[in-house]
This record gives sequence, C-alpha cells and structure tokens, in this order.
Amino acid sequence: MTLHHIVLIFHLIAATIWVGGHLLLSICYLPTALKKKEPQIILNFEKKFENLGISSLAVLILTGTWMAYDFGVTFKTWFSFSGGFEKVVSIKLLLLLLTFIFAICAQLYFIPKLNQNNIKNMAFVILSVTAIGVAMLVLGSTLRYGGI
Ligand code: HEM
Repeated sequence: MTLHHIVLIFHLIAATIWVGGHLLLSICYLPTALKKKEPQIILNFEKKFENLGISSLAVLILTGTWMAYDFGVTFKTWFSFSGGFEKVVSIKLLLLLLTFIFAICAQLYFIPKLNQNNIKNMAFVILSVTAIGVAMLVLGSTLRYGGI
C-alpha cells in the first residue's frame, strides 16, 4: 500500500461523512422540518453535525490538495483548465469556494434568524450544498480515468 493510497482512503472516509451527512439532512430531516414547519429540527442536526462536517471538509481539502500535487497538478497550474485531470481539480476548487460562500451565508444570515417563514431559504442552501457535494464526488470518480 502506497502513501497515496492511504491518503486516498482518508479522502474517501471524509467524503462519505461530508456527502452522507448532507444527504441524510436533505432526505430525512429537511422534509420533516418543512412539513412540520419546525426549524429546530434543522438546527439540532446542524449543531450535532457541525464539528464532524467541518473536520471532514478540512480533511478533504488537505488530502485532495496532497493527491493533486502527487499527480503534478500544483498551485501554478490550477485554473488553467489545460488537461482533463487539472480541469477536474480546478472545478472541484471552484465548487469548494461555492460551498464556503453558502456556509458563510448560512452562518451569518440564515441560521441566526431561522424561523417558520424563512425555512425555505435554508432549505435552498442545504439542497445546494448537498448537490455540490454529490457533484464533487462524481467529479472525483472521473479522476482515475484521467478526468473530463
Ligand atoms: C466535498 C469535497 C470532495 C468530495 C466529496 C470528493 C470526493 C472524491 C471521490 C469520491 C474521489 C474518487 C476516488 C476514487 O476514484 O478512488 C476523489 C478523488 C480525488 N479528489 Fe476529491 N473530493 C472532494 C474535494 C476535493 C478537493 C478540494 C480536491 C483538491 C483540491 C480533491 C482532489 C482529488 C484528487 C486529486 C482525487 C484523485 C485521487 C486518486 O484517484 O488517486 N478532492 N474525490
């Protein structure tokens, strides 16, 4: 087993937690919260998942960047959209930025004043972050075939 393989296993465990957690929230908790108009269901989940979720995202960034460098896709070549592999890494980084924007908006604007009337805005944020996570996973799966 190579070091790259071990790093990849950590990347996959972190992806499982990040994407799995958001799918659980979107498929199980969010519909109940919307149906019952109970924002507290979302807030309780966020509270429990927050530390684990942020840690797993940090692991994804560290391991992902490490593996990209291992494949010769370094900071200098990011966002040049030159080769199939580099293209996927750059799109992943842009999607990561989008995730940060959604997370900052959620923490600053949506979560502090979440109530029955604006719960749909939070639902939009949750579904967007989930869809982005799934897209990152699908993009990642193309890398072993050389990217897109
Ligand atoms: C939500 C965030 C992310 C998710 C869900 C995710 C998911 C995945 C998945 C499922 C794979 C497939 C591994 C395989 O086919 O065996 C993968 C591979 C990979 N990811 Fe990510 N990833 C994320 C973020 C990142 C970031 C931020 C980077 C780089 C900056 C990155 C770089 C890579 C690289 C280089 C590989 C190829 C590893 C290899 O095949 O050896 N990922 N990712």
